[in-house]
Amino acid sequence: QVAVITVDGPSGSGKGTICQLLAKELGWHLLDSGALYRLTALAARHHGVELDDVEALEVLAAHLDVQFKASDNGKGVQIVLEGEEVTHAIRNERVGEDASVIAALGPVREALLNRQRDFAGAPGLVADGRDMGTVVFPSAELKIYLDASAEERAQRRYKQLISKEPGASLDDILNDIKARDARDMNRAVAPLKPAPDAVRLDTTTMTIDEVLQAVLDEARH
Ligand code: C5P
Repeated sequence: QVAVITVDGPSGSGKGTICQLLAKELGWHLLDSGALYRLTALAARHHGVELDDVEALEVLAAHLDVQFKASDNGKGVQIVLEGEEVTHAIRNERVGEDASVIAALGPVREALLNRQRDFAGAPGLVADGRDMGTVVFPSAELKIYLDASAEERAQRRYKQLISKEPGASLDDILNDIKARDARDMNRAVAPLKPAPDAVRLDTTTMTIDEVLQAVLDEARH
């Protein structure tokens, strides 16, 4: 059995950044599980599948033709869906919305389960998501739950967005974050919540570096 560190938490809690840095620092594999939900949402759009067509979505999720390639410049990964580069396309807000809608469907989550577990490999895996510690890797050696106030998470997203979208509104982003939280936390299957044995970190007033150090300290315990 390989070592697994799970990092769960709501949108904008800094999981993505922390997991990338953590995986790099440890030299471990990285699972961005949100990307799989986003990819399923994008595939649905490409194939004209409605977001309430559970059977068709389950088939799409089970047969997702996706490759994660180390990108040429050495920075992160390139994501290819059915032969098309979608690395940036899946980060779109609308794709994120769609992803959170289909993520509430049990059969879709079930179809993605083994694909997620297949990312585990020596020397270890950093798994980023909402249910990594509760459902996908329940026996992980270390479970982290990152949180931050909704206002702080909206601020972080706003700062990321404003250079690309000068018209972005902080209020709209805050509302989106609250809606996404509600959907992720209140769904019947695999709702977002800390695993009972998770180490919880409130990152509202922490820098990325401080969070990374705190997680590394836990990992080296
Ligand atoms: O983390 P990210 O924003 O990329 O995830 C997109 C959506 O996918 C989330 O809002 C959530 O609804 C869903 N998701 C999930 N379980 C995961 C990862 C993501 O339900 N493990």
